[in-house]
Amino acid sequence: MAIQYKEIVPWGRSYEEYISMFNLSEKDLDKSILGCGDGPASFNTVMYQKGKKMISIDPIYSLTAEEIEKQIKATYQNVLIQTQQNKEKFIWNEIESVEELGQIRMSAMKSFLSDYEKGKVQNRYIPAELPNLPFENKQFDLVLCSHFLFLYTNNLTVDFHIQAINEMLRIANEVRIFPLMDVNSSRSIYVDEVLSRYTDLGYCAKEVQVNYEFQKGGNKMMVIF
Ligand SMILES: C[S@@+](CC[C@H](N)C(=O)[O-])C[C@H]1O[C@@H](n2cnc3c(N)ncnc32)[C@H](O)[C@@H]1O
Repeated sequence: MAIQYKEIVPWGRSYEEYISMFNLSEKDLDKSILGCGDGPASFNTVMYQKGKKMISIDPIYSLTAEEIEKQIKATYQNVLIQTQQNKEKFIWNEIESVEELGQIRMSAMKSFLSDYEKGKVQNRYIPAELPNLPFENKQFDLVLCSHFLFLYTNNLTVDFHIQAINEMLRIANEVRIFPLMDVNSSRSIYVDEVLSRYTDLGYCAKEVQVNYEFQKGGNKMMVIF
């Protein structure tokens, strides 16, 4: 049975996963970074612990920590059950089992939740959503978008993808998007159209291999600048 999400679920990856998914170098980490659709990921939390301030946006940041925790609990079993039923679409090396996947994700999300209220006061977690963001032109060096665009190909139109990428390019010098796969580990049907659109517009738009692969074949990010 194919994986199907009626809605875009709050599900959070770790700092280490962000580093690998986006090929982030020490130099990159000193740039001014915006995470789009960061949800309950712990990248911002650990960046802050390391003395590096970044900003994350997500519509769920209009909720309280308790409300987000409730949403995570409500989707947790569904994500793990669908992953178990589609185990062959993932690579079980670094993460060895669905149980371990649950533990790793929950640990990242708990870390986020413990930082969330403080981070909101510090304007590190800002409630906002693509394709309209409350930032100045070229305010950031780098925008990262993890597990939102392309992954939710069945939920979001290609026009939405274009509007979202236009907005990210408005506010930043460089955009990196991971993965290029949909939820069923097939290359998103939007990838080629997006690459040729931004190439035709004069951007450098390319697929770059990264040192991260959990969805089978999902070891590439898109870079546009
Ligand atoms: C699967 S989670 C990924 C979270 C995180 N980026 C990661 O990789 O662990 C997808 C996130 O996209 C967020 N989202 C939904 N609609 C959005 C929009 N229009 N703009 C930005 N983020 C959105 C959801 O709230 C959710 O937190």
